Amino acid sequence: MKLSKMEKLMLKGRYGEACKRALELVIAIAESYGYGELVRIRGAHISGISYKNIGDSGLEYIKDLVEGGAKVRVKTTTNPCGFDLDKPWLFDVDEGFFKKQMEIIRLLKEMGAKLSLTCTPYYVDNRPRRGDHIAWAESSAVIYANSVIGAYTTRESGPSALAAAITGRSALTRDHTDERKPSIMVNVQAKVFDYLDWSLLGYVVGKLAPDERPLLRVKRVTCSSDELKCFCAGLGASSTTSIFWLTTSDYNVVQGVKRIKVTHRDLRRARDEWALTRRPTLVFIGCPHCSLREIKEIAKELRGKRVKEDIKLFISTSRSIYAMASELGLVEVLERARAHLIKDTCLIVSPIKLSKNDVVLTDSAKTAYYAETMTNVMVAVEGRRKCLEEATK
Ligand code: F3S
Repeated sequence: MKLSKMEKLMLKGRYGEACKRALELVIAIAESYGYGELVRIRGAHISGISYKNIGDSGLEYIKDLVEGGAKVRVKTTTNPCGFDLDKPWLFDVDEGFFKKQMEIIRLLKEMGAKLSLTCTPYYVDNRPRRGDHIAWAESSAVIYANSVIGAYTTRESGPSALAAAITGRSALTRDHTDERKPSIMVNVQAKVFDYLDWSLLGYVVGKLAPDERPLLRVKRVTCSSDELKCFCAGLGASSTTSIFWLTTSDYNVVQGVKRIKVTHRDLRRARDEWALTRRPTLVFIGCPHCSLREIKEIAKELRGKRVKEDIKLFISTSRSIYAMASELGLVEVLERARAHLIKDTCLIVSPIKLSKNDVVLTDSAKTAYYAETMTNVMVAVEGRRKCLEEATK
């Protein structure tokens, strides 16, 4: 492999043992499924932050790197952790979990990572520019960065994104080149209106074409970037995809690739899998983390209302957006309605305890999919307005 002078020095340990090990990992990835070359990156986003997900072995791995002198070389943000750092009591966190999570956070800080603790770093904390090469983990953010922003990133794992952050290099893969082209055409015949529809559409496309790069042919594009974010999360949950395209024009139709369609019936079927048949006990909104615009919309819906005593309403966002919402008085509006605006975490990466009697209601196919896989509770999906109605009526 052709290496620069600096990379050769990294391999000799001139930049510390951790940097050497991290570069060895990036090179191994480049040789095994990349093009046998490295690419310089401008930023990184690392996942595997929650102690719930990485456990003691993940914690030890990060500790080893820090003891070996690991420091990030590019702007690096972090995915959500196991609880809201200011309200851990909301997430059934015991003392052991608390200590280990805080240790992970301390180590990441020592490495120089920004504690954004969000899966939507592109809103405020780490927004790449079109054409930037980056190394991001977190499937929803990867798909958003590639498809909506026009950056270039492989769908990194937690360890590979961390190694890229430490070395400033990632393995050159197709995702870093303009060879990334659609491999399937998806004719979208279903009408999509809200966050849930977009989220389900992503989930269904991913299920139908789990290892493809879809080009979606839609009649009209009237969606917001927040709705596209929900599509990215749904798609990432049910596929290995790292990018998609959206077109309304026949001119962009790609010849010589497979074609499939998604109908209203397909979306209906997915929705029916998670039909609401019992009263919810926990309503969760904010997968992926909410934008400020979404929080404004939710605050408008909840103004003058109150969440029922026997229901918890969680709305999750990043700490940066939370601070903005707080300045605008939106946190107060939500608290007055007895809703919890939470940051730093989400339902899936927190250790929150749910019993068999619990019913989780969400407007996210990704949360529904993982909550169902990871717990034995009943999970249901509804549009955001209906979720808020169920929590308050
Ligand atoms: Fe984010 Fe958690 Fe969903 S990390 S994408 S809110 S499962």
